[in-house]
Formats: sequence, structure tokens, C-alpha cells
Amino acid sequence: MAVDACPAQNWRATVDKSHNANMQAADADLPTRIRAATRAIHHTLNTTIIRRLALGLPPETRSPQLYALGISRIAEIYYAFENAWRDYLDSPYSGVEIDARYRAILHDILIPGIARSQRLSSDLAHLRATWGPIDAPHHDEAIRSAVAHMSVSIQAKPYVVLAYSWIMYMALFNGGRWIREQLLDAGPSFWDRKSSHAEKAPIAQSYLSFWHFDGSDDGEDVKLAFKTRLIDAGSRLTEAEREDVVAEAQALFQHCLSIVMEIDTVVSSNRLRPVASFCRYSFPSFYFRFLVTTAILGSAVYVLSLISFVWDLDLFVTCCLLNSVHITSAT
Ligand code: HEM
Repeated sequence: MAVDACPAQNWRATVDKSHNANMQAADADLPTRIRAATRAIHHTLNTTIIRRLALGLPPETRSPQLYALGISRIAEIYYAFENAWRDYLDSPYSGVEIDARYRAILHDILIPGIARSQRLSSDLAHLRATWGPIDAPHHDEAIRSAVAHMSVSIQAKPYVVLAYSWIMYMALFNGGRWIREQLLDAGPSFWDRKSSHAEKAPIAQSYLSFWHFDGSDDGEDVKLAFKTRLIDAGSRLTEAEREDVVAEAQALFQHCLSIVMEIDTVVSSNRLRPVASFCRYSFPSFYFRFLVTTAILGSAVYVLSLISFVWDLDLFVTCCLLNSVHITSAT
């Protein structure tokens, strides 16, 4: 005889299910746990970025100033964790056993060719040299709070570098590949107003080196090595430390989202409007639009006067006809 499960049994089954899920999550490797914990916010962030990327590229704008503003802010995140990471490895060994463990872990995940800070500052130097100042030293609370949070966290728990490096490098190897295509498709003359015939390669090396990796593998070898080392590094942490890493991964995604939102505020603020409007109405597009508008307005005035003339003529002819009918009937 089939017996319906009582509410207590249902409750027990639910608890067992969630317990098993937690056990599975705890058994999973660190990247899998980060992925599960950040899936929703990653989706929000990537749709937010995709929508805004188009606004910084042709035909929406004719200069890379908006891109430069955005990447100058994201660069601060890479500078923050890569500098703190290097400083920690360069600092004198304290002699404490836990310090030795953290040093070994952070040393092992530092794959040659993966660091981005130098490339970012070189790209930004090229952008400034060609397009002038790109920084907006206002509305920068989100980026300042992200950097402050990361520095304090790395000082207290150096192993949270695992979260920051995983997120910021994986962003580059995944969505970053697609973003790179959009940036390159804007064409050399968009990036460098001095040269209109440049090949893709010089642009990739000068303005967009951040998105590229040395070697024939386009960074696939670096990505593979980093993934393998990070999984191994995660297994050398305690469970409490792994939980810290997952929590920091969520915090970083939240910071990235706030930074993107803050860029919206900068762009819509009055102080950037002259730059934005310059982008929209730069020569020759401004003069072209001016001529077209004048031509349309001129034609409209001409057509209106013609209508008014025909209307007057029509009225005159009607009056004459009525008059002649009146004279005829009087006689
Ligand atoms: C600052 C922005 C972004 C950050 C921090 C970020 C971060 C990440 C991370 C950490 C992963 C690795 C997931 C894993 O293998 O566990 C990832 C994967 C991925 N990202 Fe992003 N991402 C960002 C923006 C974007 C954008 C704009 C797109 C869309 C073009 C995108 C598309 C993808 C795709 C397709 C994957 C692979 C899917 C998967 O393996 O689950 N991401 N991203």
C-alpha cells in the first residue's frame, strides 16, 4: 500500500536535499563555487556592459574618449590587486607558518604574462597622448571604495587575491574576447586620428594591448595554466578561507557593477557634456548636419510660401468669379 509522505518526512527530504547540495558545493573546486555564487550578478553585469559598449563606439561616437574613461576606471582594479599581490610577495617573510603557506599559494598562481597593469598604463598613456586628458576626477566614490576594500582585504587575508585574479582574468578570457572584437572593428582611424591606413596590429599594440596576450596561442596557454593553478591553490586553503574567497568574489562583482553605474553618472554630468557633445558633433559631421538641417528648413519655408501664394491666388480667382456672377445677375 502506498503511504503518502507526512509533512515531517517532506521536511526531512528538503533538509537532506539542501544538505547534499551544500556538501556538493563544498566538494566542488573553487572556480565552480565562485561561478555558482556569482552567476546572477555576472549576468546583470555583462548585459549592463554590452548595452554601454555600443555607446562608446562608432557610429554613436567618433572618438574613444568614453572608452578611455571606462577603461581608466577598470584599470584601477587591476592596479590595486596586482600591486598588493606583488608587494606581499616582495615583503620580508614574517617567519610565521601561515605566511609561508599564503606566499607559496600566491606565488604559484602568478603565471608569466598574465598581469595587466603595465599594459593598461601603456594603453592609457597612448590614449592621453592622442586624445588629451581622459580622467574625470569627480564621481569616483565607487572606484575609490572598491580599491580601498580590496587593499584592506588583501592585507588582512592575502589569499583573497584568488578571488580578484580569477574574476578579472577570466573576464578578459571570456567576455573580454568579444569586447576586443567590437573594439577592433571600430577601425584604426577611430583609435588614432593621425593615421587612417594603419593595420589592426599597431592598434592592438598601442591602444588595446590590455586585451591581447603574447605568443601564438592568444593567451589560451596562459588561461589554461591559470585555471589549473587556481584549482590547485583552492584545494590548499581551509574551508573557512575558501568561503572568504567566494564572498570576496561576490563583493568584487558588486563593486564592478557600481563602477559601471558611476561611469553613467560621470557621462551624464555637466562636466563631461562638452567632451560628449564634441564626440557627437565633431567635424565634418557637425557641418554636414548643419547643411542638411538648413536645406530642410529652407525647403520647408519655400513650400509654405508657395502654398500661401497658391492659396491667395485661389482666393483672388474665386472673388473675381463671384464678382462677375454678381454683375451678370444685376444686369
Ligand atoms: C567586468 C565585467 C565582467 C566580469 C568581471 C566577468 C567575469 C567573468 C568570470 C569570472 C567568468 C568565468 C566563469 C567561469 O568559468 O567560472 C566569466 C565567464 C564568461 N563571461 Fe564574463 N565577465 C564580465 C563581463 C562579461 C561580458 C560583457 C560578457 C559578454 C560579452 C561576458 C561573457 C562571459 C561568458 C560568455 C563567459 C563564459 C561562460 C561560462 O563559462 O560560464 N562577461 N566572466
